[in-house]
Amino acid sequence: MRVLDLDRDMRDVIPTGASADSEFLFERMTHRTLAAVGPEPGRRVLDVAAGVGQDAAALAEAGMFSVAAEPSSRMSELAKWSLSQRSGPHPVWVRGWSDRLPFATGSFDAVFCKGALDHFDHPTAAIAEMARVTRTSGVVVLAIANFDSLSCRVSRLVDRFRETGMRRPVPLGRRGHDVPHDHFTRYEVGLMREQASVSLDLHCVEGVSMAWGMPHWAHVLESMPRRGVQATLEGLDWLARRVPALADVVVLAGRPLRSSNTAA
Ligand SMILES: C[S@@+](CC[C@H](N)C(=O)[O-])C[C@H]1O[C@@H](n2cnc3c(N)ncnc32)[C@H](O)[C@@H]1O
Repeated sequence: MRVLDLDRDMRDVIPTGASADSEFLFERMTHRTLAAVGPEPGRRVLDVAAGVGQDAAALAEAGMFSVAAEPSSRMSELAKWSLSQRSGPHPVWVRGWSDRLPFATGSFDAVFCKGALDHFDHPTAAIAEMARVTRTSGVVVLAIANFDSLSCRVSRLVDRFRETGMRRPVPLGRRGHDVPHDHFTRYEVGLMREQASVSLDLHCVEGVSMAWGMPHWAHVLESMPRRGVQATLEGLDWLARRVPALADVVVLAGRPLRSSNTAA
């Protein structure tokens, strides 16, 4: 029997910007995801696996009809509590799993899912559901961590060299390039494209940020002057945008493909 925990506190898996490269990555990832959603007032937008709902809230404040879908009641309660401290329009909260979204076909102008697809046990079913609930000329946006990024590749090489070349013991615990225990899928760009293309006609596959979490990278940035840090991170982001295979995060966007059973 499978037991689903609907009371999980997932705040620990929502990264926070504790270093310059983390701050840059999470700010850019959010900015590019929401830009791909097309943030015009009046649009109907769905945030799938909304977590504590900061993105859905930002869109509501920007004048959109914003819906946040999240299965964990704990996360939704935390979100509602933090929003209750703020005035202004709030998103509508709906409890729901990504692979069975409780909305009619074609209900939204845009649907997005940021930093969560790798937590889903049925990601292709989830993308199909996102496509179904989006109107035919709308857009589905996915932002996914890339576990074959430049940083993961370099970290893997360094670890291999330490373990086999220098004969150092394998360190205990999760290494930066290992997929966390609560992820079901280890994504790289090929797999992202393959899964997304089943339900979406992709018009955007672009990377966000590069070198996040690379060995000693945060210390290198700390030793640089502030303007140099910003220029370096911007330069790597420029490269990531063009070479998503090496980027830290990939943003994919596309129009929903309709099959006979999902036609609006
Ligand atoms: C890392 S958080 C991301 C939250 C948010 N999108 C953000 O960018 O901060 C992952 C979220 O996915 C949710 N989740 C996990 N499995 C899910 C599923 N099968 N369907 C929908 N949401 C799920 C969790 O409850 C959690 O809130």
